[in-house]
Amino acid sequence: MYCNPDVKWYVECMTNHEFPAGSERAAPCAGLRIGDLAPDFSARSTTGDVRLSDYRGRWLVLVSHPADFTPVCTTEFVALARAAEEFERRDCALMALSVDSLFSHFAWLRMIRDRFGIEVRFPIIEDPTLVIARAYGMVAPQDSDSATVRATFFIDPEGVIRAMSCYPANVGRSTQEMIRTLDALQAVDEGTGLAPANWEPGESLLRHPRATLEDVFAADGQADWFLQHAEQESSR
Ligand code: BEZ
Repeated sequence: MYCNPDVKWYVECMTNHEFPAGSERAAPCAGLRIGDLAPDFSARSTTGDVRLSDYRGRWLVLVSHPADFTPVCTTEFVALARAAEEFERRDCALMALSVDSLFSHFAWLRMIRDRFGIEVRFPIIEDPTLVIARAYGMVAPQDSDSATVRATFFIDPEGVIRAMSCYPANVGRSTQEMIRTLDALQAVDEGTGLAPANWEPGESLLRHPRATLEDVFAADGQADWFLQHAEQESSR
């Protein structure tokens, strides 16, 4: 595994970061924020060498998992592999990462194929030195446990982190929710509105709240100025 200088620089920043007293064990997933450029890296993976910046121009979901050959992780990879076409249909690549070696990944993927009849064809990166995991906050900076948390990063075609989640080792993620989040991000990028709770493709978006006092006073109902479905706008 080799990293470009950006990641080394970022890791130095992370390691030199001063945490407030009492927070020496900073929470994983605390390193990056929505809106940050995803740190670039190059690494060995099950599909050959990969470079994050090569994915510019399409969406990317980057997931980390605690360890190969563990029960929950195995169910997640079976689910992701089965959903791979759904991501592809949304022009979204998948990439996974753990601290396990490339040969562990290979053996695990073979076991998954033989036991579950599904081939995991998206790249799984090896990160034995944790340099990527630390850059992305997938492990706490001072943590001696090398297992990465279940972090998920939604990276847009410009390389910007648009959403992320962090699950513990004992709870598997929902592939359906990943796809729904991706759908919502792509829908709001079309500029027509905001995705409400439990939004699904085909449902209406919310309109951006009114920005002037005149608009607020002119609105019909008490909540109409800030809470309205986008399609209602044309009927006003
Ligand atoms: C699992 O994937 O099942 C798992 C991974 C790490 C710790 C505990 C469970």
